[in-house]
Amino acid sequence: MTADIEEILVSRDEIREMVRQMGRRISQDYQGEELVLVGVLKGGFVFLADLMREITIPVDMDLIAVSSYGASTRSSGVVRIIKDMDLNVAGKHVLIVEDLVDTGLTLKHLKELFNTRGPKSVRICTAFDKPSRRKVDIEVEYKGIEVPDKFIVGYGLDYAGKYRNLPDVCTLKKEIYTNQQ
Ligand code: IMP
Ligand code: MG
Repeated sequence: MTADIEEILVSRDEIREMVRQMGRRISQDYQGEELVLVGVLKGGFVFLADLMREITIPVDMDLIAVSSYGASTRSSGVVRIIKDMDLNVAGKHVLIVEDLVDTGLTLKHLKELFNTRGPKSVRICTAFDKPSRRKVDIEVEYKGIEVPDKFIVGYGLDYAGKYRNLPDVCTLKKEIYTNQQ
């Protein structure tokens, strides 16, 4: 698997430091409030697992699964809810936890969906941000590390279902994409 890596763009140490700072900020901002962290599967689960352990106030968590990509590296713009969350978020603060904001289409859709469920607030938290690719105007309150317009894998991010378990965020060698049908 590591033989497929072209370059490490964000190291595990940089990621760990970003998660620490983000956890600290969230703990301060939501002090005394009821917070539900909602991880976006599949990619967001790695970040969620790390982030919640850096949060020092009581939180509840849930997971939602959406699909916007097939096995391709470009967004189809179609967001499909594959698994909805179980918790009722009425009257609670919701923080959506994502791996990466690219076009913003997924989060725009999710934010609108959560807003119909009577929460006290809905905010977005992302580990990585690719602002150059944004197609819709969307406010992201907690942004981790900005990445260039390159397809990246690792730390939850996949290519065709693989490489989510890489601890660093990397680009893949060109032949990995060109060998794919
Ligand atoms: P968006 O709807 O275009 O913002 O895309 C959101 C989702 O697409 C992200 O949460 C990722 O799961 C996936 N995605 C976007 N860019 C990449 C990438 O470079 N590598 C892996 N997954 C990506
Ligand atoms: Mg994804």
